[in-house]
Amino acid sequence: MNYFSPEPKKRKEDFFDMEREWSALDRALKKGKMVIVTGLRRYGKTSLIMTYMNESRKKYVYLNCRLLPPVVSLNSFKALIEGELAKNSWGIRLLQNLKSAEVQLAGFGLKVDAKSEESVLRTLKALEGSVLVMDEAQALRMSSYRFDSLLAYIFDATDIKLIISGSEVGLLYRFLRLEDPEAPLYGRAYSEVRLNPLSKEKAKEFLLRGFEQEKITVNEKVIEDALEKLDGVIGWLAYFGYSLATGGLSVEKIYERASKLAVDELKKALKLYGSAERRYSEALRIVATLSSASWSEIKRGIEAKLGKITDSTLANILRNLTDAGFVKKDGNKYKVADPVLQHGILAYL
Ligand SMILES: Nc1ncnc2c1ncn2[C@@H]1O[C@H](COP(=O)(O)OP(=O)(O)O)[C@@H](O)[C@H]1O
Ligand SMILES: [Mg+2]
Repeated sequence: MNYFSPEPKKRKEDFFDMEREWSALDRALKKGKMVIVTGLRRYGKTSLIMTYMNESRKKYVYLNCRLLPPVVSLNSFKALIEGELAKNSWGIRLLQNLKSAEVQLAGFGLKVDAKSEESVLRTLKALEGSVLVMDEAQALRMSSYRFDSLLAYIFDATDIKLIISGSEVGLLYRFLRLEDPEAPLYGRAYSEVRLNPLSKEKAKEFLLRGFEQEKITVNEKVIEDALEKLDGVIGWLAYFGYSLATGGLSVEKIYERASKLAVDELKKALKLYGSAERRYSEALRIVATLSSASWSEIKRGIEAKLGKITDSTLANILRNLTDAGFVKKDGNKYKVADPVLQHGILAYL
């Protein structure tokens, strides 16, 4: 038993019970072909999916789309699937069968792209009856290849079940365009399993049981302090527990490290916006400083520092920040979605 180990959980005994989400995933997968698992970074999506899949003993392939290059080619996607398959004996056998089929087909002089598409489709055909997990699938939107069409093909033409997950929930839905009549996935039936932070009671139980496993006693005040700062995000709670158990650092120090980690991720994501990055950073600093900021407060703040900004540009910035899960809208106000990140923005951005 080890709740605090840092990697995504794979075994039921390391997995802190998420009854509601577990049974929602179970129902959705039994009933339908496509499940979308959403929740911000560190809410426990990957752990839920992997532990569930291992427990259910179904054949599955897990793809972490974050491992793909920033602009995704079909070939890099193919390499990711094949790399995953090569990790277990079932997958290796499957790949070997594909290879012999491929040799027979060689020499037809297909175009490069058509050839790699055919090869991906062939691999998918061989996965009939299993579950394909695409984690952080919003990464697939950055491609000249239409991965949404590929998903529609899988849905329509195979009996593969799909679990699609992502931390950047708005971007994920912008990629899938399930409600857009012009889009390939339009009208396909799906269920969403949405993860949320743990309640205060559950978060406390997680920490207490985790410390019990580590056989250390931790001062009640330290625990209360952590609960206050980490706001039920299971990934931060695990990080805190792990750091305390292994390094014996102070809560303050751990909190600083976590904030720094969150800001580093943010900075990496903001690079995407090139020269507009400064405006994104400024918007975030204003939102973090005010805790809860209105449109006009953000606009005024940016203009004071960086000069005039049009409404449509600001709308675009706030939409992108919201869709990427860094900011959330609460009524008419904008807030930083994660309290650890909020602290990080104030200290390090
Ligand atoms: N149910 C759980 N029980 C124990 N630890 C968990 C659980 N869910 C997540 N964690 C831990 O929290 C961290 C983030 O989890 P992860 O599944 O990677 O989240 P996400 O995929 O949503 O970003 C990891 O360290 C993981 O071990
Ligand atoms: Mg994950």
